[in-house]
Amino acid sequence: MNAAGPQHVPVMLDEVLEGLDLKPEGRYLDGTFGRGGHAREVLARLGPRGRLLLMDRDPEAVASAVREFGADPRVAIRHANFATMTQWEEARELDGVLLDLGVSSPQLDDASRGFSFQGEGPLDMRMDPTRGPSVAEWLACAEETEIADVLWRYGEERMSRRIARAIVERRRLHPLATTAGLADLVARTIGYRERSKHPATRTFQALRIHINDELGALPAGLAAALAGLKPGGRLAVISFHSLEDRIVKQFIRGEPAPAVRRGLPAPAAAPAPLRAIGKARFATAAETAANPRARSAVLRIAEKTA
Ligand SMILES: C[S@@+](CC[C@H](N)C(=O)[O-])C[C@H]1O[C@@H](n2cnc3c(N)ncnc32)[C@H](O)[C@@H]1O
Repeated sequence: MNAAGPQHVPVMLDEVLEGLDLKPEGRYLDGTFGRGGHAREVLARLGPRGRLLLMDRDPEAVASAVREFGADPRVAIRHANFATMTQWEEARELDGVLLDLGVSSPQLDDASRGFSFQGEGPLDMRMDPTRGPSVAEWLACAEETEIADVLWRYGEERMSRRIARAIVERRRLHPLATTAGLADLVARTIGYRERSKHPATRTFQALRIHINDELGALPAGLAAALAGLKPGGRLAVISFHSLEDRIVKQFIRGEPAPAVRRGLPAPAAAPAPLRAIGKARFATAAETAANPRARSAVLRIAEKTA
């Protein structure tokens, strides 16, 4: 932590700056401000006529953006889900959009946000605590099959049914209210199977993705970004697990959403409105050694075609 509060080390910073092909007078949007690790460097490369639009669904991230950049006339800041980007009048004719998905270090490190199984905190996990139910509220009333389905789909948790049953049995006695309570229940239900992973890792990831509708926001955000970009504008997306990366890859290729019913002919392919710039990129060994968060990061860059 420094005087500005808890920080977040930006992932693949040089690759993002290069991929966005920054122009000093350009208009850019960072849909996932976090603590501004990328935004700060984008802004440093903009001239007096450049413009930087910042969004985050987390009010604490937005407060940090206002503190650091609120007085800069080149910057505009919004507390919103990037899926709603098209509702922002200014988010038009963009030269570049960055989406650095997932959670920030300050979110993970603050036990009171309930994202981490290390430490005791309320079982919340909402990036935007002003909206929707917390994980504790959802687990208090979801069907057992629904819980198992979420753990399986978003956490690829093989013991999903066993964990869901344990949760439902436990809540009959008393509500699951804390991160430590859930982590402990999962550990006691499935034991320590993987050497370097806490048994609740997959469960926490799945519940976080579900409660924040992360896989619903992503396609909507990609479509909104495409609508806001001008021809030649660049899209840069960093994802942290294969479910997200698959969505990004298919979107860039212009492939139809996968929910097409079997037996029906594939819809005629429309010309892709995006052109991939290079292949997927991964953090270097030096970066992953310095910042373990970068280990699972995948960066994809694309350009809007005319
Ligand atoms: C990985 S961090 C971004 C870190 C940032 N690039 C930096 O270097 O400081 C992800 C941030 O995106 C935000 N976020 C995730 N999904 C979002 C969405 N759908 N809309 C807006 N913000 C979102 C989270 O609240 C979090 O602050």
